[in-house]
Amino acid sequence: MVTLWHGRFKGGPAEALQALNDSLPFDRRMFREDLAGSRAHLRMLTRVGLVSDDDGVAVLNALDVAEGELTDGTFLFVEGDEDIHTAIERRVTELAGDAGARLHTGRSRNDQVATDLRLWTIRELTELASLVLEFQNTLATRADEAGDAYLPGYTHLQQAQPVLLAHHLLAHGWALSRDVDRLLDARSRADVSPLGAGALAGSSLPLDPDGTASDLGFSNRFENSLDAVSDRDFVAETLFSLALLGVHLSRIGEELILWSTEEFGFINLDDRFSTGSSMLPQKKNPDIAELARGKAGRLIGHLTGLLTTLKGLPLAYNKDLQEDKEPLFDACDTVRLTLVALDGMVDSMGVNVDRMAEAADGPYVAAVDLAEYLVLGGMPFREAHAVVGALVREAMTGGDSLVDLVAADKRLGPAAAALLLPGVAVHRRTTPGGSGPEPVAIQKSRFRELLEAQRAQVGN
Ligand code: ARG
Repeated sequence: MVTLWHGRFKGGPAEALQALNDSLPFDRRMFREDLAGSRAHLRMLTRVGLVSDDDGVAVLNALDVAEGELTDGTFLFVEGDEDIHTAIERRVTELAGDAGARLHTGRSRNDQVATDLRLWTIRELTELASLVLEFQNTLATRADEAGDAYLPGYTHLQQAQPVLLAHHLLAHGWALSRDVDRLLDARSRADVSPLGAGALAGSSLPLDPDGTASDLGFSNRFENSLDAVSDRDFVAETLFSLALLGVHLSRIGEELILWSTEEFGFINLDDRFSTGSSMLPQKKNPDIAELARGKAGRLIGHLTGLLTTLKGLPLAYNKDLQEDKEPLFDACDTVRLTLVALDGMVDSMGVNVDRMAEAADGPYVAAVDLAEYLVLGGMPFREAHAVVGALVREAMTGGDSLVDLVAADKRLGPAAAALLLPGVAVHRRTTPGGSGPEPVAIQKSRFRELLEAQRAQVGN
C-alpha cells in the first residue's frame, strides 16, 4: 500500500491505525468541494507558472473523470485512500501521471480540508436557512388562517390570559427568525478561504491565495496561516446555531404533544404525520413532535463534543480536528429531517377552535381586566389587585360566580362584569406587540416583511 508519505517510511501502516485514522467513510460526502478546491488550486498553479498549461489541462481532465466516477458511483476506492483528499489525488495521478503529481504543489491537506469543510458548511447553512424560512412561512399561513381563534396563554403551564392563536404561532416564528439570523451570521464567518496556508506557514512558492479565494467564491482569504488551518470556529458556530434551532423545534414539539392530548384536545394530527400503536388500536401518536424534542439532546451533544475537542488544542493542525466532520454532518442532517417533518405536521394539523376557546373562556383568565378597570377609575394597581383577588377567592371557595360577585360589587358593577364574558378579554390587548387583533395584524405584516428580507439575504 502506498501512502502519501511513503518516501519517509519503511513499511505500510498497521491495520489498527488505518481503522482509526481513516475518515473516508464520512468525508467522501465532501467530494464536490474537494474537486472545486483542487480545480481552483490547479488554475492558480498554472496562472503563476508552477504548472504548465498542458499539465493543467491534463489535471483538469482527470478531475472531470474523477467527478464523473464519484457522481455515478463507479469511483474505485483502494486501500490507502485514507480520506477523500487522498483518494481524489491518487485517482488524478493515475489518470494524468506526472501532471497529476503536481496538483498538491504548495498545498497541504490541512488547508485543503479546511477549504472543503468551509465550502460545504456555507452551502449547507444556506439550504438550512431556506428550510427554516419555509417553516416560518407555514407558521405565518397558519396564523392568517387562525383568524380570531384564541386559546389560553400560559405561565407556569397554568392558564394566565387568553391570546390569539395567531399570536402564539408567530411567537415561535420570531424565535425561528433569530435562528435564520444566526445561520447567516455563521455563514459569513465561514466565508474565508484558508487555501494557500499550506501545512501551517504558507509557502516559499509564489502562490496566490487571493486568486484561489475569489475563484472559489469566498469573500475573503485568511490573514494568518496558522489560524487558517486550525480555526474551526465556523463549525462550532454552526453547531451552536443548530443546537439553539433544535431547542426551538423541541419547544414547538413539546406544545404540539400537549395540544394533541385528549386532555387539551386543541389539535388533531393528520394521519400522514402521526403514528399508530402496535398494540393499542385507538392510539395516534405525535412521534414527529417527540423526535423534534428528542433530537435537541443530540444537537446539544454535538456542540459540547466539538467544543471539548477544540479546547486543549495547540496551534496549528492536530488530527483531533478530524472529529469536526461527523458532528457537523449529523447536526445538519438531523435539523434538515426535523424541520421538514415538523413543517408538514404543523401545515396539516387540524385546529379545534371551539375547544381552545372553551378552555380560554374560564372566568378567571380575565381577572386582570377587572383590576385594570379599577385602575382606570383611579385606584392604585396594588389595591385593585387585592380587591379582585378577594373576589376570585370568594368565587373559588364556593361563593357566587365571579361574574355575579363583580356585577354586585359597587366598585365594579355590570360594566366590569361584561369584561368577563367569553371572547371579550382577548380583544382588549391593544398595546404594540400585544396579543389582541390590532397589534397582531400589525405583527403579521411585519413578520412577512422580515421573511421577505431574510429570504433575500439567504440568496440561495
Ligand atoms: N482527514 C483529515 C481531516 O479530516 C485531513 C487532514 C489531514 N492532515 C494531516 N496533517 N494528516 O482532518
